Amino acid sequence: MSNIGSYDERLGNFSWSISEKELGYKPGDVINIGWYCSDRVCQMGKASKLALIHEGFSGVERRYTYNDIRLASNTIGAFLRGLGIRNEDRVCLFMDKIPELYIGFLAILKIGAIAQPLFSAFGDESLYVRLSDAGTTAVITQKKHAPKIKKILERLPHLKHIIIVDHDGKTPLREREVAFSLTEAKPVETLEIFETKAESPSVFHYTSGTTGQPKGVRHVHYSLISQYLTAKWVLDLREDDIYWCTADPGWVTGTSYGIIAPFCLGITQCVLDAGFSAEAWYRFIEKYKITMWYSAPTAIRSLMKAGDEIVKRFDLSSLRHLASVGEPLNSEAVVWSQRVFGRPFLDTYWQTETGCIVISNYPGMEVRPGSMGKPFPGITAAILNPSTYEPHSSYGKIGLIGLRPGWPSMMRSYWNNEAAFQGKHRNGWYLTGDRARMDKDGYFWFVGRDDDVINTGGHLVSPFEVESALLSHPAVAESAVVSKPDPINLEVVKAFVSLKPGFEPSKDLELEIMNFIRKKLSPLAMPQEMAFFKSLPKTRSGKLVRRILHAKEWGEEIGDTSTLEDD
Ligand code: WTA
Repeated sequence: MSNIGSYDERLGNFSWSISEKELGYKPGDVINIGWYCSDRVCQMGKASKLALIHEGFSGVERRYTYNDIRLASNTIGAFLRGLGIRNEDRVCLFMDKIPELYIGFLAILKIGAIAQPLFSAFGDESLYVRLSDAGTTAVITQKKHAPKIKKILERLPHLKHIIIVDHDGKTPLREREVAFSLTEAKPVETLEIFETKAESPSVFHYTSGTTGQPKGVRHVHYSLISQYLTAKWVLDLREDDIYWCTADPGWVTGTSYGIIAPFCLGITQCVLDAGFSAEAWYRFIEKYKITMWYSAPTAIRSLMKAGDEIVKRFDLSSLRHLASVGEPLNSEAVVWSQRVFGRPFLDTYWQTETGCIVISNYPGMEVRPGSMGKPFPGITAAILNPSTYEPHSSYGKIGLIGLRPGWPSMMRSYWNNEAAFQGKHRNGWYLTGDRARMDKDGYFWFVGRDDDVINTGGHLVSPFEVESALLSHPAVAESAVVSKPDPINLEVVKAFVSLKPGFEPSKDLELEIMNFIRKKLSPLAMPQEMAFFKSLPKTRSGKLVRRILHAKEWGEEIGDTSTLEDD
């Protein structure tokens, strides 16, 4: 019997107070995610249970019990406080998937500051945009990433501290840098936990939109209520599970379900800080006897591509439950996983903004391969008519996925961008920006995004951000960025540029522009292809029309072009 029991019964008498009760929380109480994920688990008698098994790049393993996590997060928290960091200050985590990232996250929350995790492969410009928007006070990082911060330091007057967690003790520290070593610091037994309340801010995640720079999604400590219960019912996490979430905490999956959910449930989780290869992943599952595996469609398609033979070389019989998130999970992948692992990957759908899984397949529920499943109990989801923002009256029609605001982990705002936040709400619905249809049994079927954001391998890329990077190259006059189809990543980034007078298209120039933007962006946002054009399609008022370029790449109808500039 799964944790959710019968989905239909749960739906009937659902209230978020189920989660509040299990967590021992009453409205008005102090609620601090950092405390819930460490101190409380210890108080419940699990101090010596393994919380984190970490395998680093070079194969070195580090193990932490819940008591270790409690002490280590106290120690980092005390250090941050000692630097003068206070509640609601933004503290960025800019690290590979090392233990300090997971523990540092909890430490920041324990002192009431706001955790701002950023993918460590971000280039200096992507980093700058996010640190300057958030007004970040401190960055916790590794020495290999510090030079990227140094490059933008002058433009970040509010950034007071760059905390290096692996400093060798010899190299002189540079401006605003300070060294901290978890292994050398004296463990702090007792830390005064900041008394955050339900609506106190907890995490800022930056997410890409169609227009403008990435937006900071502001979450609060009360989000724990839905992260806890969705992990329990959808990921079906149980006391003796060995859990592996493959996501990087630079993205929301890696925090909601890679830190908060497993730790608040007192589960043992494993982290692999190494690049992808089918062999390495299967070896990891075999070695640690992973029972619950939460991953993403691009990884699953890559595993499919690696073939069935390689699966047979490993003992993967520990696997009990598999789930996926981030992009459409095609039915072939579900059928394949059933065949080779003996279980289907269950698709889950959600967003940075929703903070938790909102639509998904559940253990025990009939899985319809290719469908995202049904709304989580307590989530009201509908397919809206794009003109009226009313729910479609009949089944099977394509429309916008709308969610009724009000569940605990819904974002509270976009940081400094109330207009964008309001723009995502219509007629009492939060608009996800995705399109889908619903069948007569209430299953949701994903159709596509309703905007120009590119989802490559599960990572959202803002065309605007890539276009801006291209425009900063001296040869580029105009730029447009759209997606093009790809068998593994579903879509990849393609760039179109027109050149300034005096520059001629060439392979060398293309390479030069690519190298130029690579340093600014992240490898994931990099165009896989570049095409030179004399001029790019624009409306008469000069607005770039990506739709035309997109339609050409996907072999679709171009549609109405009457408002376009004449050639
Ligand atoms: C897409 C990731 C199809 C969707 C947790 C959404 C999906 C965006 C699915 C959010 C799925 C996520 N099927 N598409 N199961 N899950 N998406 O904010 O377009 O990085 O709006 O959050 O990814 O991506 P984000």
